[in-house]
Amino acid sequence: MDIAIIGTGYVGLVSGVCFAHIGHNVVCVDNNEDKIKSLNQGVVPIYEPGLEELLKKYRKSGKISFSSSIGDAIKKSTVIFLAVGTPPKKNGDADLIYIENVSREIARHMDSYKLIVEKSTVPAETGRRIERTVHLNMNPKFKNGKKSDLEFDVASNPEFLREGSAVEDFMNPDRIVIGVESARAEKLLREVYAPLKAKIVVTNLATAEMIKHASNSFLATKISFINAVSQICDRVGADVLKVAEGMGYDKRIGRAFLNAGVGYGGSCFPKDVDAFARLAEKSGYDFHLLKSVRRVNEEQKQSFVKLIEDKLWIIKDKTIAVWGLAFKANTDDMRSAAAIDIIQALQAEGGRIQAYDPQAMEKAKEFLKKVKFCHDPYEAAKNADCLLLLTEWEEFHQVDFKRVQDLMTQTVIFDGRNFLDGERLREMGFDYHGMGRGDHEAA
Ligand code: NAD
Ligand code: UGA
Repeated sequence: MDIAIIGTGYVGLVSGVCFAHIGHNVVCVDNNEDKIKSLNQGVVPIYEPGLEELLKKYRKSGKISFSSSIGDAIKKSTVIFLAVGTPPKKNGDADLIYIENVSREIARHMDSYKLIVEKSTVPAETGRRIERTVHLNMNPKFKNGKKSDLEFDVASNPEFLREGSAVEDFMNPDRIVIGVESARAEKLLREVYAPLKAKIVVTNLATAEMIKHASNSFLATKISFINAVSQICDRVGADVLKVAEGMGYDKRIGRAFLNAGVGYGGSCFPKDVDAFARLAEKSGYDFHLLKSVRRVNEEQKQSFVKLIEDKLWIIKDKTIAVWGLAFKANTDDMRSAAAIDIIQALQAEGGRIQAYDPQAMEKAKEFLKKVKFCHDPYEAAKNADCLLLLTEWEEFHQVDFKRVQDLMTQTVIFDGRNFLDGERLREMGFDYHGMGRGDHEAA
């Protein structure tokens, strides 16, 4: 199958490389010329485990190529995936300008049947709008009065991969959702995904779009639920890790996404929860549950800062070591990372930040100013009055805490991910605080 992917970011690049891996001919397009230039030199602009090796292999074999010319890519492909960003507007709506721009470009360049597939996360009803935009912008030579001669279909194929395990997730999906309005579109998408041998759920367009909204919002709800539970755990002396374990054995609940911490971040949950709440509002339903999910998430970061204030007393002129900046482990993505809000709140009170992250420091520099970026966890801990763990990188399990203890001025640890062995650290003499472990009164 000849496939074009428009938008070569986290989703577009991973999807493109994986489609090449399962045998398709892929061209990835982006209007960021620097990105295309670097990909054409075999340099992957993001950190994603396993991606670079596959990219090298399929670039060499010619199964994947990169271009900034959308016209050529459209002409030579039958299936066109849209993987451009759908960032949040100020009011929480998804900004669909990139989707509209690309739809117009496709309309202008198409010269034979095309299947246009939404892979970006978009509000329900976007498929209909794409269809209309393509009709309106089609090259006039293909138009015959009002009805176009040129056939095309629009489909929805939401992506469920997670950053940090994106290749693995793409190759082994729990399910593949395809929202289609024609047998031809269904047949083509089934062919695209046949090599993955995964469960395929076929729906209409709007239902597929809703599945993506509902899935992300449900996962965010699980996280906010356990974070709310963690607040009570601290107040009553219960341990949220054990609560999650005890709940998780119930197959109807499951243990996944019940990790309490500093709240969810990333380019998806925060924006998708808001966009779903806005979509509901516009359709006449007040989805107040989702508003609470968001509120709990914001409060989780605030209460973490309050806890630090409570234990450290005066923040001004204190040196604060931060381990982990990315919104989760195994990625360099800093978009809506909890570390940004937490660091900025502490800086506003005069705290001095020394931070280390194994992969995200370059990107963090765009979001964080006046931070001392360090070469390793030890440099960050040097002369620190406390240490915050904000991203659960495996590397932090390997640290020599005896050395850390000698480097720090006050040996206080706030583990925002319940990642470290608190018991051992306390035995060593650290003043260790987890999240919802029943080891401190909530601030
Ligand atoms: P991203 O910002 O990393 O990538 C988007 C790319 O689109 C950028 O490289 C940008 O330059 C390019 N682009 C914008 N306009 C263009 C145009 N007119 N022509 C060509 N390229 C253009 O975004 P992302 O994280 O890959 O997310 C893309 C979509 O996928 C979003 O809707 C997101 O919600 C969804 N999604 C993301 C993830 C994830 O883990 N990041 C997972 C599932 C779904
Ligand atoms: C999430 C979904 O998991 C993917 O299925 C989806 O495709 C993607 O959003 C998307 O639509 O973009 P991602 O944001 O990459 O993937 O990462 P997650 O592993 O879901 O983590 C999101 C945030 O929640 C992170 O900040 C993480 O630290 C936090 N989290 C996750 C918790 O605080 N507790 C948990 O138990 C799980």
